[in-house]
Amino acid sequence: MQLMRFARSTLGLKIIVAVTGAIMIGFLLLHAYGNMHIWFGAEEINDYSYWLREFGQHLFGYGGFLWIVRVVVGGALIVHVITVVALIRRNRAARGSRYRKTSRRKRIIIGLTMIFSGALILTFLVLHILQFTTGTIQPTPFHEQDGMGIVYINLYQAFQVWWIAWAYILAVAIVGIHIYHGAWSVFQTLGWNNADRNNLFRHIAAALAIGLFLSFASVPVMFWTGVLPEPPSMSQTQQHTQDHGSVEATRQ
Ligand code: HEM
Repeated sequence: MQLMRFARSTLGLKIIVAVTGAIMIGFLLLHAYGNMHIWFGAEEINDYSYWLREFGQHLFGYGGFLWIVRVVVGGALIVHVITVVALIRRNRAARGSRYRKTSRRKRIIIGLTMIFSGALILTFLVLHILQFTTGTIQPTPFHEQDGMGIVYINLYQAFQVWWIAWAYILAVAIVGIHIYHGAWSVFQTLGWNNADRNNLFRHIAAALAIGLFLSFASVPVMFWTGVLPEPPSMSQTQQHTQDHGSVEATRQ
């Protein structure tokens, strides 16, 4: 009962936002780590994609662990959004003259940045899953094997298209900005900030955001610039992709 009351308090809501945000940052760190397999070639990343489904299969069955991760991260995302909306409503209701003008203006700008970037990230996420996980939307051909996308070739073909590469770089920059402000406000929520430590926390938040941005953005950049080569199986799959147009044709 007391726990429920605490969860509904403003501090409780902020802690829920912080914890669910931390779960999603954890997912992003794992995703960025997973993406790094691309640097070592098509086989590495494709094997990693199988490993994700095979991990813990004696306990949860094939793909079972991945589903647990999906439920936890998806649940965290839903709770994060609902709690943020509750906090916004509460802040609006409590809007008074508690803060000096400058401080309040700054808060409003940061708040709007967080809401706007959060909405853009949600939109990106839906399109991203529909593009690379389910293959529902196919601006470039989606190659599948064993009921899942063949990661390297799908990314290779997508990032030959300039606007897809740039859209991803922009999206992960927005993710970085959101995480920077988010991580910084978590430190404040937890009351860890003070004049001595603020600089350190700002640096930690910046390192996290920039690190994630660089690691995610490296993927479209390396495909677009040709640092990452055409997949070895391209010549075989070229036949398969004729219906959608060749890779040369998709490079715009
Ligand atoms: C350039 C950056 C990114 C690249 C190249 C990338 C690549 C991919 C690929 C290839 C998949 C499918 C993996 C598979 O089926 O084995 C995937 C899935 C996914 N990505 Fe990303 N991603 C990027 C950024 C992001 C970001 C910033 C987010 C979150 C905001 C994100 C969230 C997800 C989610 C939730 C899935 C679905 C996982 C699942 O349910 O299987 N990705 N990504």
